[in-house]
Amino acid sequence: TKRWPSAEGGALTEAELNEAAALLAAGETVAFPTETVYGLGADARSTEAVEQVFRAKGRPSDNPLIVHIAGMEQLRGLVRPLGEAERRLAERFWPGPLTLVLRAVPGAVSPRVTAGLDTVAVRMPDHEVALRLIRAAGCPVAAPSANRSGRPSPTAARHVQEDLGGRIAGIVDGGPTGVGLESTVVECAGPDSVRILRPGGVTPEQLRAAGFEVLLEVDGAGGHADPAQAFEEGMGASPGGASGEGAPARDAAAKLAEAPPTAPASAAAVPAAAPRSPGMKYAHYAPRGEMRLIAGDRERVRAAVQAAADEARGRGRRVGILAYEETTAAYRADIVLACGSLAAPETAAQSLYAVLREFDERGAEVIWAEGCPTDGIGLALMNRLSKAAGGRVEHID
Ligand code: TXA
Ligand code: MG
Repeated sequence: TKRWPSAEGGALTEAELNEAAALLAAGETVAFPTETVYGLGADARSTEAVEQVFRAKGRPSDNPLIVHIAGMEQLRGLVRPLGEAERRLAERFWPGPLTLVLRAVPGAVSPRVTAGLDTVAVRMPDHEVALRLIRAAGCPVAAPSANRSGRPSPTAARHVQEDLGGRIAGIVDGGPTGVGLESTVVECAGPDSVRILRPGGVTPEQLRAAGFEVLLEVDGAGGHADPAQAFEEGMGASPGGASGEGAPARDAAAKLAEAPPTAPASAAAVPAAAPRSPGMKYAHYAPRGEMRLIAGDRERVRAAVQAAADEARGRGRRVGILAYEETTAAYRADIVLACGSLAAPETAAQSLYAVLREFDERGAEVIWAEGCPTDGIGLALMNRLSKAAGGRVEHID
């Protein structure tokens, strides 16, 4: 696996960027930075290239990929002409962490990219290296996050190296990513209404400020009008309870793992027969240690996290606690890590995946995570925490 820039600490040269782009154009896989997480890119038109992406990641092939473009002209021939709302979203949020699910032009990209759907997910990343690379490659670039499937997404080139070194042609190092969580995946649901299929870097508040009504896909299995109830369903494996790590509530947990765990009170909850963003049904972003998430009333959450940690340590487990800068000092466990600050949730988003990897490096066997408020980027953060916890989520009010 090649690394660019090749000089330690050096800047990426034009020649290096062109070398990476030439590999992409030749059907090889190249990891590159975006403003959200690192992506593993391949020529979206080439089934052979895209198959290498699935192989390197160990990713289920019914999970479609996002196609990355560097300019609006690349939409031509790729998707049907945009509707009015789609055009407004692209104008307002591109380049940026918003992925639009659009009607595909049949045959424009490999069916392996769309997993047989008649739609294709497209975004224009807000990262100079990504844009230059895509432009130089001269093709639409299909790119899932550049991690082994199920592992936390990579927010630094060394994470890509850890997971995919030796399995891909190259890695372009652009330093740490900015947002730290993946893009928001949306589809238009009407002239002024947008449905969030995966929460991410663009918040519901930003979409509303742009004049859109926001619908949140809450559950693939019947739907929960009440987000708090969606939390309750995951409670079977009570962290403090005698059931300990038996994790009995597998079905409920699996259901919950499909859903953004909470919705702001003002967002409408929309039941759906099947998950619209197929990736949402997989357990994702998970550290190797078994994680549990406790959310709700601050004081009671802290007491519950500490009690659960004490109980597990009493049984000889190596225990991690994931908290925030404001709260770590109060906890006792083998490994206590802050994922940013509650006062600045964007810092929590930036560091979440690196912190999950650090729990692995330090050998945490069980991890309790403290939830955060779900406004702004907090919605995406709680979604990823809940998925990292495999749906083992308790809500205390
Ligand atoms: O920030 C991001 O979006 C990163 C960077 C690399 O751009 N990429 C990323 O890709 O997160 P990936 O493959 O890990 O997630 C793609 C998500 C999945 O949840 C997938 O199901 C959904 O997008 N998706 C892709 N195509 C879709 C489609 N046609 N309809 C609905 N959902 C789709
Ligand atoms: Mg991913």
